[in-house]
Amino acid sequence: MRPSINKRLAYSLVIVILASVATLLSITVLKGSPSPQDSPTANSDLGKSLYQTRCAPCHGAEGKGDGFAASDLNPKPRDFTSGKYKFRSTKSGSIPTDDNLAQVINNGLHGTSMPAWKEFISGDSLQAIVTYIKSLSPRFQSELPAPVTVSNPIPISEKSIAAGKEAYKNLQCGKCHGDDGSGMSTVATDLKDDLGKPITPANLTEPWTFRSGASSADIYLRMKTGIDGSPMPAYEGMASEQDLWNVANYVTSIARKPVWQMNPTELQQYYASLDNSNKANPVLRGKYLATILACDQCHSPADDGRKMIEQYRMAGGQKWTIGHYGDFVTINLTSDKETGLGNWTDDQLKNALTKGIRKDGSRSLPFPMPWTAMASLSNDDLNALVAYLRTIPPVYNKIPEPKRPNFFSYMWGKFKMLILKEDFPLQMYPGNAGETKSTSSMESAHPSIASTTIRKEK
Ligand code: HEC
Ligand code: HEC
Ligand code: HEC
Repeated sequence: MRPSINKRLAYSLVIVILASVATLLSITVLKGSPSPQDSPTANSDLGKSLYQTRCAPCHGAEGKGDGFAASDLNPKPRDFTSGKYKFRSTKSGSIPTDDNLAQVINNGLHGTSMPAWKEFISGDSLQAIVTYIKSLSPRFQSELPAPVTVSNPIPISEKSIAAGKEAYKNLQCGKCHGDDGSGMSTVATDLKDDLGKPITPANLTEPWTFRSGASSADIYLRMKTGIDGSPMPAYEGMASEQDLWNVANYVTSIARKPVWQMNPTELQQYYASLDNSNKANPVLRGKYLATILACDQCHSPADDGRKMIEQYRMAGGQKWTIGHYGDFVTINLTSDKETGLGNWTDDQLKNALTKGIRKDGSRSLPFPMPWTAMASLSNDDLNALVAYLRTIPPVYNKIPEPKRPNFFSYMWGKFKMLILKEDFPLQMYPGNAGETKSTSSMESAHPSIASTTIRKEK
């Protein structure tokens, strides 16, 4: 009897053990293979963490295009909550396809601060980040991308290029891009993007500066879909398919050689032609100079986030405290007769720009107004700059005179700097220190705003 009981016990033990092993196994197996509900969260966690480390510094933690690095960037990083994208293969106004987004992330956008991520993000990570970006705008939940139909390309030939040149004229691309595509001779010089920021049409003779590819097929798509958020219109329905391909072929044909591929004779010819076109269009040259000399960065008021107050672009009003020298407010550079450059003579303006002589004949400091750097502007460039400043529409903004400290505080400041070796304070204040038509005085009436230092440099 005994052995049989033992046997039965042994059998049941074996069964219990096998059952437990089976249960354990099935649990581990289930855990190992993701259930359908598991994968999206895992994917979105990956997308989110990649986004926060790689993209948020520019595009902002919530995707609003307001990361800490964004304030100085031009163009601004995309606001992903708007669902509005520039470089698509979809109809004007439509959301982009996943492929469109992946392509921009892979290749970056040339000529902007948007980097190419190919080397760092690919495969599942790329898909995860595309999914994450889409989750930031409700448009991707309620809409589907509407791809344009791409017709058969017309191969590049002399005939197609000639037809494209005609169509370029008829479609009036030259209004923005210039008759020769280089941006010279443009009519529309005051273009703004949807954020109200000035925007320059691409120089079509410099294809290496195109954001999103320079093949005929790329250019065809840019025309057909437009560049949403910028003034570049969509030509779908406005031009025939033939015209679109011909113009695309024409644009590839006007590409000039980049200077780094030119021989000495070509270089000489190129700069001679550049000189001529600058002389032919001084206002455009002046605008270019004003942009690279960053006049607007100082001669426009900025808000607490150092964001330019667009309404007063170039109308002055940014206040600086310069060590023991006093308080200075940048002057109004618009052509307003009462408060701007409207009643300055060309010579007064030139003396201020290159010799640091104020309109009243007094001398300005060699900083922060960088007139010492402008002292070496060529005559042509100086004329061009003045010509451009004359074209800025008038904005009323009355700028207070500089406030100089009295003799004793000045000497005390000098003593602290030279003998006590204390730091030389340079401060820039947010807000408009000028007096506008609507507010009798915005900032000067509220010294509490003016005394918030937003940047203190040594
Ligand atoms: C150094 C700043 C910077 C960083 C970092 C950055 N971007 Fe951008 N990004 C930009 C700017 C600027 C633009 C807008 C360019 C324009 O308007 O032409 C842009 C535009 C885009 C666009 C819009 C393209 C379109 O068709 O409108 C996408 C998508 C994008 N970025 C994705 C990303 C992703 C994903 C990351 C992180 C992996 C990232 N960006 C990181 C600066 C940045
Ligand atoms: C109303 C002004 C306007 C007109 C008209 C216009 N464009 Fe543009 N175009 C722009 C602006 C502005 C940009 C720059 C957009 C940006 O940087 O985001 C641009 C950019 C481009 C680009 C560069 C795309 C890239 O990848 O960077 C090409 C190519 C182009 N335009 C071709 C054309 C052609 C061809 C026509 C005529 C069929 C045309 N444009 C008509 C304003 C215009
Ligand atoms: C780094 C900041 C900064 C930049 C960049 C700058 N300015 Fe100024 N500018 C000032 C300040 C500050 C004053 C007021 C100085 C004063 O009252 O002595 C000033 C004054 C002037 C004046 C009056 C003359 C004078 O010296 O007071 C003119 C004209 C002027 N700027 C034009 C320009 C132009 C044009 C540009 C671009 C080509 C430019 N500024 C770039 C800061 C700047």
